[in-house]
Amino acid sequence: MVLLTGISKIRTAVFISGTGSNLKSLIKFSKTSKSPISIEFIVSNTPKAKGLNYAKIYKIKKKVLNFENKNFIENKLLSFLKINNVEMICLAGFMKILSKNFIKKFNGKILNIHPSLLPKYKGLNTHRRVLNNKEKYSGCTVHFVNSRLDSGKIILQKKVKISKNETEVSLAKKILVQEHKLYPKAILKIFNV
Ligand code: GRF
Repeated sequence: MVLLTGISKIRTAVFISGTGSNLKSLIKFSKTSKSPISIEFIVSNTPKAKGLNYAKIYKIKKKVLNFENKNFIENKLLSFLKINNVEMICLAGFMKILSKNFIKKFNGKILNIHPSLLPKYKGLNTHRRVLNNKEKYSGCTVHFVNSRLDSGKIILQKKVKISKNETEVSLAKKILVQEHKLYPKAILKIFNV
């Protein structure tokens, strides 16, 4: 991707479903001068997502969409994003699977963060499975999104060591701290900053 400087940052939408701590870290990053992206929209599949509060705090437009009728909503969303010149999407704890068609339309411009060292532990309940398997390390991965779940090209990963008395909660917390640093780093990497 080409780096755009000055005022012409890449107009980005962040998709969430929950707490939005990665969203917060991305917003903070986007406001720095070195950030190649600006965050224009927050999209959530549920009005219950706590992360929607950041729309108010940071004065970012939000859109809550019911993905029940996925085709219809995705097409509406695609037109909306196009009209608003959104060029990139960051998935940050977004719990819906986007269709092949949607991903194709944004080919190579959708990123995701996953709390494991992909290709290991794709999908849900990663921390539980990691602990059950007595892994020594876990971590997080930022990757491009393709049509297969958690399988797109890896951009960056961060490894964390699993402690003796690690629990799902402590591991999630530990990894989340790293996620907040990794996502901005990965964005800088793809724009060669
Ligand atoms: C993160 O662990 C992310 O990797 C996963 O869902 C969690 C979202 O956390 N996909 P938050 O909503 O960003 O706090």
